[in-house]
Amino acid sequence: MNSASPIGLYDSGLGGLSVVREVFRQLPREAVLYFGDTARVPYGGRSVEDLIAFNREILAILLERGAKAVLVACNTSSAVALHVLDGECPVPILGLIEAGARAAVRCGPRIGIIATEATIASGAHARAIASIRPDAEIFPIACPRLVPMIESGDWTSERAAAIVFESLAPFLDVELDALVLGCTHYPIISELIQSIVGSRVELVDPAQEAVRALGEILAGHEILAEPDAQPAHDFLVSGVPEAFAQNATRLFGSLAASVSHHPVRSLIES
Ligand code: DGL
Repeated sequence: MNSASPIGLYDSGLGGLSVVREVFRQLPREAVLYFGDTARVPYGGRSVEDLIAFNREILAILLERGAKAVLVACNTSSAVALHVLDGECPVPILGLIEAGARAAVRCGPRIGIIATEATIASGAHARAIASIRPDAEIFPIACPRLVPMIESGDWTSERAAAIVFESLAPFLDVELDALVLGCTHYPIISELIQSIVGSRVELVDPAQEAVRALGEILAGHEILAEPDAQPAHDFLVSGVPEAFAQNATRLFGSLAASVSHHPVRSLIES
């Protein structure tokens, strides 16, 4: 492992690409090694036990392929499994929850959180926000319909707008300063979300703050990529590569990297 080694990122599927996008923006010399667990998406309704097993399995794949640091590009995994992985991972590892909390409290005390059922049930964002800003009023809502919709490639249709509207309806009579996009799939549809909650609400994508923190960690360990590095990226998925590549290309304009299949243990065995 050295400065030319890749940063490992992973998610249940497409969502972590919103974090990769931020890595490309802030750390353009870094090579990315991404794992999307598309055979087992969505994670949001799964048990803590399953999620920890999936996280361990993916972390081992990334380490085996030489990741020099790992950014858990999934709020659900960050909320329920990171504390376990933290003690087991030989390279720096960080998640999104604290980063989201730090960014949200700067916007004001009335903070909405949208995330998966498992993330909301964990209470991780609420705890992280309250620990930095005890006067915060927190409004958490689980949105289980959004990830399957985004994974299916439906980001802009009338049906998508209706699903997002229904999911966010509880916020319509609440005045928020900030809304934390507490699932990495949601920044993919941030324009739709903004149009429903109104322009006065600041949407917080934890990835910006998390990638900033990642940059500081890499610098602190003296493993930042060289300024003249020409990074090569690698995308692995546990499901069908073509579907993932198509959606990734929509997100990035072009995806100058290959997407290949990497098997994972089946759900029955896990
Ligand atoms: N994108 C993930 C997150 O940030 C997981 C969503 C899911 O698979 O339910 O929570």
